[in-house]
Amino acid sequence: MYNVVFYCCLCLIRHTSGQDNVDTEPYILCEDQDSPSIVCPTATFIKIKDAIYGRTDGSACTDGDIISTSCILTVTTRVEQMCNYKQRCLPKASNDIYGDPCERIYKYLNVTYRCIKGT
Ligand SMILES: *[C@@H]1O[C@H](CO)[C@@H](O)[C@H](O)[C@H]1NC(C)=O
Repeated sequence: MYNVVFYCCLCLIRHTSGQDNVDTEPYILCEDQDSPSIVCPTATFIKIKDAIYGRTDGSACTDGDIISTSCILTVTTRVEQMCNYKQRCLPKASNDIYGDPCERIYKYLNVTYRCIKGT
């Protein structure tokens, strides 16, 4: 009986620590939109890995001009300032914040992040 409980605990620990290492899907926020937010589960916090503002894909945020898909401005530091260690965050996808890396292209913010257990 004690053995069963012991092994059960072990597998729970393994299971939850494994989840810490799973990356979430990249978060996409279209230019000048104010939703969705980045949301981590209760008692976990956003940890930004990297963020780009621009366009590298033709299938996201299609309500505007897509004349190129090679526009990349790295904005990791700025997005970290807005979002790191919050449980929920609405960053900005706007030329006002980052400048305009490619005029006349409808851009988006692409953020890769994890939800980490906080202290
Ligand atoms: C977002 O960035 C990730 C990682 O760089 C990339 O794999 C993904 O294709 C990007 N998504 C879009 C819509 O650009």
